[in-house]
Amino acid sequence: MNIAVIYGGKSGEHEVSLVSASSIARNIPEGNRVILVGIAKDGAWYLQEEAQLAALRADPKAVLSVVAAPARRVHVVPGGGTASAISVSGAPIPVDVAFPVLHGTFGEDGTIQGLFEMADLPYVGGGVMASAIAMDKEKTKILWQAAGLPIVPFVAARFAEWSSEADRRSIVQRAEKEFSWPVFVKPACAGSSVGAAKASTREELERRAGEAFLWDDKILIEPFIPAREIECSVTGNDAPVAYTPGEIVPSHEFYDYDAKYVDPDGAALKIPADLGEQATRRVRQLAVQAYKALDLTGLSRVDFFVDKRNDALYLNEINTIPGFTSISMFPKMCEASGLPYADLVMKLVHLAKARFDARRALRTSRQ
Ligand SMILES: Nc1ncnc2c1ncn2[C@@H]1O[C@H](COP(=O)(O)OP(=O)(O)OP(=O)(O)O)[C@@H](O)[C@H]1O
Ligand SMILES: [Mg+2]
Repeated sequence: MNIAVIYGGKSGEHEVSLVSASSIARNIPEGNRVILVGIAKDGAWYLQEEAQLAALRADPKAVLSVVAAPARRVHVVPGGGTASAISVSGAPIPVDVAFPVLHGTFGEDGTIQGLFEMADLPYVGGGVMASAIAMDKEKTKILWQAAGLPIVPFVAARFAEWSSEADRRSIVQRAEKEFSWPVFVKPACAGSSVGAAKASTREELERRAGEAFLWDDKILIEPFIPAREIECSVTGNDAPVAYTPGEIVPSHEFYDYDAKYVDPDGAALKIPADLGEQATRRVRQLAVQAYKALDLTGLSRVDFFVDKRNDALYLNEINTIPGFTSISMFPKMCEASGLPYADLVMKLVHLAKARFDARRALRTSRQ
């Protein structure tokens, strides 16, 4: 099979993507052809030299880079299909499945998925709508709530409302009435905990909201939950399965940006999570329900909170292209359920093809 691994990208998570994609490319079994497509930080796509793949296979610590060689600029052709959707200098490169390993904006938010749909190319992961909704924490919560799933309550605020003094006052009053202090503030569509913070007073809320609005024009205000952070991997299309849940134990007050990427002792990962049989079963069941409520396909990591005060379980958010380094939670949780990394990668490739074939059988015209 010809598998295009697409990585890098115009995103704050460019570097994380390089590490995730390196692990994936390294683990695609021999007998398949790996096509490395690097996206530069300005958004242009370039075919990478095969030598990069050889280097990855030779050295378990090697990491892919994006070399922006103008002669190797990749073009995506609408309607091109597996034979010619991807081309370089007019020469088509056959691709059976595209594997976007791009976190956040332009990777996880439905935009690149739309490009693959137009190119008529099978791709790993969620479709356009599911990816776009999962990127928006407000819309995700609305759908989960409608499905009767337990979410952390929230008040959403748009920048235009926040900029009007009267509207802002009524939003703050609503949050004060519905939740007690402290609250938590975060952008609706961001990642990596950027712009996320706790606020203990009205003044602090106003300041933190201003910071969150640097990242998105919509923010969420929620009650601050002193929580254990539980995560659960899900894969599948029509009959999704959930794997053994894991736990993140941050050494900071919450799982902030530094705990994720800067401080090497910022968080400990525990797989399996020490939850007991009943709660483990409940997490897995809710993870599948949360996935289905968004019509997801392929894979996702579903993140939960367990309130330390009373053990109440809440869905927090869902990541449709989770971190995929060899030490990331997503593949580790699959491994803990008996699915090794390389098998997981190929399972996702086969799920992509199955979804594509099922959708191709649908009518697109009356003739
Ligand atoms: N209501 C809350 N109460 C307490 N802590 C919270 C709350 N919401 C979020 N947090 C903390 O902030 C962290 C980041 O929040 P969240 O997971 O919602 O967004 P994100 O991590 O930025 O998004 P992504 O996982 O897509 O990168 C959580 O892992 C948790 O530690
Ligand atoms: Mg998160």
